[in-house]
Amino acid sequence: MKKNNSLYLGLILIIAGIIGIFGTSYLTPRWTGMENKMDFRSMNSRQQHFFRQEMMKDGWSKRKFSSNGQRIYYRAVSSSKKSIKATIGTMEMPSLMMSCVSCHGENGQGGTVQMMMGSFKAPNITYKELTKEENPPYTDKLIKRAITKGIDADGKRLEPPMPKWSMSDKDLNDLVDYLKTL
Ligand code: HEC
Repeated sequence: MKKNNSLYLGLILIIAGIIGIFGTSYLTPRWTGMENKMDFRSMNSRQQHFFRQEMMKDGWSKRKFSSNGQRIYYRAVSSSKKSIKATIGTMEMPSLMMSCVSCHGENGQGGTVQMMMGSFKAPNITYKELTKEENPPYTDKLIKRAITKGIDADGKRLEPPMPKWSMSDKDLNDLVDYLKTL
């Protein structure tokens, strides 16, 4: 009897192990090696959903936006449907995968961010903080340069994972206006 029990236990553990292995590989997004490009489209819909939840954090669940700037901050999507792209290092991130809120938080105050690639600190990007009289403060123009070219107010390079963003001028203006409300 005892022998039988441990046999069953062994079987259950093996089955659980198999489910574990397949379950995780099913859920974990696939990274294609080629030039660090992540092939979002080759993921199945569950993997995409999992990834968005993981990357977008609170942003993903928000569905109503009070302005175009807020929509971009949360979803990296413009009301005008014009494309918005993020590039981290040489890696172009698929749209919808991450946005400002994923790293800088709902209140723009940043902090320690946990993502699949590890944890890192994201700075406070509220307008008030960025334009503080410190060496040298950001202007609207310099904030836009930081967002699109990845250069800070000092002229220093902003390091990954801060992406370089490409979006229309109007979208960029709307986004900076939104930072002013945080
Ligand atoms: C994947 C995480 C991530 C995302 C997404 C992200 N950022 Fe950042 N951001 C960072 C990190 C990390 C830094 C700091 C980089 C450094 O200091 O080298 C940063 C720096 C900045 C800075 C400069 C702050 C300073 O003190 O000089 C601005 C402005 C900024 N981000 C705005 C944005 C905006 C606007 C968006 C959305 C369009 C965005 N970021 C999306 C991670 C992110």
